[in-house]
Amino acid sequence: MPPIDLRSDTVTHPTPAMRRAMAEAEVGDDVFGDDPTVNALEARAAEITGMEAGVFVASGTMGNLVSLIAHVPRGGEIIAEAESHTIIDEQAGHAVIVGASARGIPARPDGTIDPALVAAAFRDPLDLHEPRTSLVVLENTHAHSMGQPLRPAYTAEIAAIAHGRGVPLHVDGARLFNAAVALGVSAAELLEHADSATFCLSKGLACPVGSVVVGSAGFVARARRARKLVGGGMRQVGVLAAAGLVALSDGPDGMIERLAEDHVNARRLAEGLASMPGIVGLDPTRATTNFVIFGIAATDPGGEAARLSRWELRERFLEELRAEGVLMVSYAHDTVRAVTHYGVDIEDVDRVVQACRRALAACGAAPAPATPVN
Ligand SMILES: Cc1ncc(COP(=O)(O)O)c(C=O)c1O
Repeated sequence: MPPIDLRSDTVTHPTPAMRRAMAEAEVGDDVFGDDPTVNALEARAAEITGMEAGVFVASGTMGNLVSLIAHVPRGGEIIAEAESHTIIDEQAGHAVIVGASARGIPARPDGTIDPALVAAAFRDPLDLHEPRTSLVVLENTHAHSMGQPLRPAYTAEIAAIAHGRGVPLHVDGARLFNAAVALGVSAAELLEHADSATFCLSKGLACPVGSVVVGSAGFVARARRARKLVGGGMRQVGVLAAAGLVALSDGPDGMIERLAEDHVNARRLAEGLASMPGIVGLDPTRATTNFVIFGIAATDPGGEAARLSRWELRERFLEELRAEGVLMVSYAHDTVRAVTHYGVDIEDVDRVVQACRRALAACGAAPAPATPVN
């Protein structure tokens, strides 16, 4: 049996409908603008997000990078959540490639950053010592707060602060459609006041490759130039875009509405784990999209496991879980992350809960269950 892989929603495989569409895709040289399938994907992405235009890129990281290049001059500064992917998980592309500094503001438990702190983080444009604040970035869903979705009204509030100071707002919407489905709003509502966004096709939407950057026609033209600069000008890439068109389609082959199932599964997993001895820091009501994040702590202060460091105990738990045929991943702040996605069903979730109970006992974090769990 293949493992139940909850390390990320990036492990999803393309659906049969995607594979068919990829095999049959009409293609052309996309750097010349000749690939009809890419053009159709970019138009569909713009339509579904309420933006003017879109550009297909290789990854979420490339999407954020070309957006930053398009918005931010060298010596500019971005304001973003302190642990956002843009600041800490993209090898500081903002500094290395864009030539910008970053001002990080810690998130609140709901994944938002305090609007008052955002307003206070703007630099004084008259002070020649300071960099120029050039962009505000929001992450929706916000990964480190266990995938909390940011509401349209909140994005509008941050946009008003940025726009009032002549600065655009970019949304890293790697999991934008998870946010839309969780909140019962459209992607266009989520982005109504944003100037640009990146969303990933290759995560919960199950495509093999790719993200789309959307925004005004002028912004997308600049992002397209930036994509070429970073080596992202792809050729007969309609074979990949075809999967994206399936994912964003209405009807049974579309992959957006089914994200609700992943959210139900995440909540069920969180509920199964939350009260388990050895699991700490997990409030299941916070599982609102497809992330479940929790800590491991030994229940017996005199036991062998209590003498291990937090990292050693976590690694032992993950090893025991792997031996049970379940994959999860270490995450920030000594936690473990599990992500539900296409290909993982509710029976798998129930198996995972039982496997966690056994793995916690095997690594010494919790006493062995009184009755063996199968
Ligand atoms: C919030 C967020 N933004 C951006 C990215 C980057 O996406 P990619 O892995 O396609 O570069 C990720 C990837 O996990 C992410 O979680």
